[in-house]
Amino acid sequence: MICAPSFLSSNFSKLKVEILSINHAKWLHFDVMDGKFVENKTYNHEILTEIGQYSNQIFDCHLMVENPEKDIDNYAKNGADYITFHYEATKDSKKLISKIQSVNVKAGISIKPATDVEVLDDFLEDIDLILIMSVEPGKGGQKFMENALDKIRYLDHLRKEKGYHFLIEVDGGINFDTAKLVKKAGADIIVVGSYIFNRNNRNDIIREFENV
Ligand code: DX5
Ligand code: ZN
Repeated sequence: MICAPSFLSSNFSKLKVEILSINHAKWLHFDVMDGKFVENKTYNHEILTEIGQYSNQIFDCHLMVENPEKDIDNYAKNGADYITFHYEATKDSKKLISKIQSVNVKAGISIKPATDVEVLDDFLEDIDLILIMSVEPGKGGQKFMENALDKIRYLDHLRKEKGYHFLIEVDGGINFDTAKLVKKAGADIIVVGSYIFNRNNRNDIIREFENV
């Protein structure tokens, strides 16, 4: 499994130390919240430049923002490798996917727990990554919602049948028990926030998640 730590639950007053404490991870998950699509507000594209000074990890940007169209160029310019928007935040997912890919960034689409996975059917051929939320977006430390498993199984079955190339990423409430469940269901990438940042031996924990 790929383990993408989310530093949402990290100590922002010592961000560099916190990011270096998870330097074994190949991916880094940025939880961008605008205070409109979700209640909380976190950071914007500028954080990629800051962290890019001491990290060459894959920047996996999860945009929990209203009309994400406005942000694509900034995230692309600041070093995003993946830009994932929410299906629920745009009127034209297909157009947004091509916009992201046109600026040489991989396109991801995410659905909230209450959104049916079938809404993604039209995008599966083109999309690079699908982010299945196993918690309500907006904060860390929540409990894993099991309805994510059927969505993962549905997508994994379809991509095997049709030969689609997208990756399946799962986000929210991941610990070693739920990591095993989502891997079995077909997930490729797990986002882990509080489970890592509430502990000290972080790189060891990441290695363990990679070998789930
Ligand atoms: C929630 C974020 C998640 C969250 C994961 O809106 O998208 O990435 O930070 O945190 P944990 O692992 O604590 O659920
Ligand atoms: Zn996230």
